[in-house]
Amino acid sequence: EVVDCKGLHVLPGLVDAHVHLREPGDASVETIGTGTRAAVLGGLTAVFDMPNTSPAITDSAQLAWKRGRVEETAWCDMGLYVGATRRNIPELAALEVEENVCAIKVFAGSSTGDLMIEDDAGLEAVMRSGRRRIAYHSEDEYRLRERKPNYQTGMPHRMHAEWRDVECAFLGTRRLMALARKTGRPAHILHVSTAEELEYLADFRDICTVEVLMNHLTQTDEAYDRLGGYAVMNPPIRDKRHLEAAWAAVRDGRVDVVGSDHAPHSRAAKERPWPDCAAGLTGVQTIVPVMLDHVSNGRLSLMRLADLMCAGPARVYGVVNKGRLSVGYDADFTLVDMAKSRVIEESWIASPCGWTPFDGHRCQGWPVGTIVRGHVVMREDEVLGTPVGRPVAFR
Ligand code: DOR
Ligand code: ZN
Ligand code: ZN
Repeated sequence: EVVDCKGLHVLPGLVDAHVHLREPGDASVETIGTGTRAAVLGGLTAVFDMPNTSPAITDSAQLAWKRGRVEETAWCDMGLYVGATRRNIPELAALEVEENVCAIKVFAGSSTGDLMIEDDAGLEAVMRSGRRRIAYHSEDEYRLRERKPNYQTGMPHRMHAEWRDVECAFLGTRRLMALARKTGRPAHILHVSTAEELEYLADFRDICTVEVLMNHLTQTDEAYDRLGGYAVMNPPIRDKRHLEAAWAAVRDGRVDVVGSDHAPHSRAAKERPWPDCAAGLTGVQTIVPVMLDHVSNGRLSLMRLADLMCAGPARVYGVVNKGRLSVGYDADFTLVDMAKSRVIEESWIASPCGWTPFDGHRCQGWPVGTIVRGHVVMREDEVLGTPVGRPVAFR
């Protein structure tokens, strides 16, 4: 097949290493089929899917079932996380190797679903059990209700809230690093979102890798006034000081991966009055255009973006291809047109939940083709062929 790439940049296939596709769970919000279709429309060749589904993915039977769903319905390749629970700690080492997971996921702080290991003894047991990659969700529980900004009443306690929240996130991360030092096990810290954590983690680069989210590089707290519940995520969107710290960390090479934390919820769940609004924003379809716009604005180079969304995930999670450590799979490409300027519209969103916090956001630079292992699955907004997605292999 001949693909005319005149005037385009051909990037290695871009990966979103942090998505929640909700299967099994609520198909009216998202499934593996719909979420990966959104992903290829947005220029991604692979996504790594979190285990906090309903029920959660915590054993080999569930992983086998999910791999089957990937083979039947996914439009792009998928890495699967396995969730750590108190009950499966003894099996984690075997699970991560035999079941070809991208990582063990530990919810060391509050989240959607009921996977949670918060105490030091539990966390240390998980850390010692994993052979390779463990990814930590590092927010602290009491943060959620205490500090979620009251976007409906004009946030009278936002300053107080911000202070509590930063303290809590920092505490969670400090605790994880103390355990990583003690056990000698490396940790991948997901969605690091505060200036304080980023500064702190600079001293632990020998033992930690860092993910920052596209939303934390793009939105500031004015989003609460504009979007209400559609700005609520966990960890929360913060003020400009943290956004600038995140960009400084990206520039200095203190960030390994940029992901979206695509976390669809129904409109009803997003519009529930504070503090019961569901936390999480869609992003699998918008992460590439939004990041390309940052390239156009001089925030980072295309090379750096390819590093953060392809080589970085491959390095951190240990992607292998034909038995070798690899930055991707054969003929995985994302075609981008940096001359194309386009406004993100809600009507473009393919996830059944049907909303994006970026409605009306103009992006200079746009994904115009997605090629998964040689199959052209998206060209100029059209999804082509059949779902060719496969599970990604890991070291
Ligand atoms: O905002 C979030 N949404 N944070 C999480 O930790 C979980 C996620 C979800 O699954 O909804
Ligand atoms: Zn999270
Ligand atoms: Zn997440």
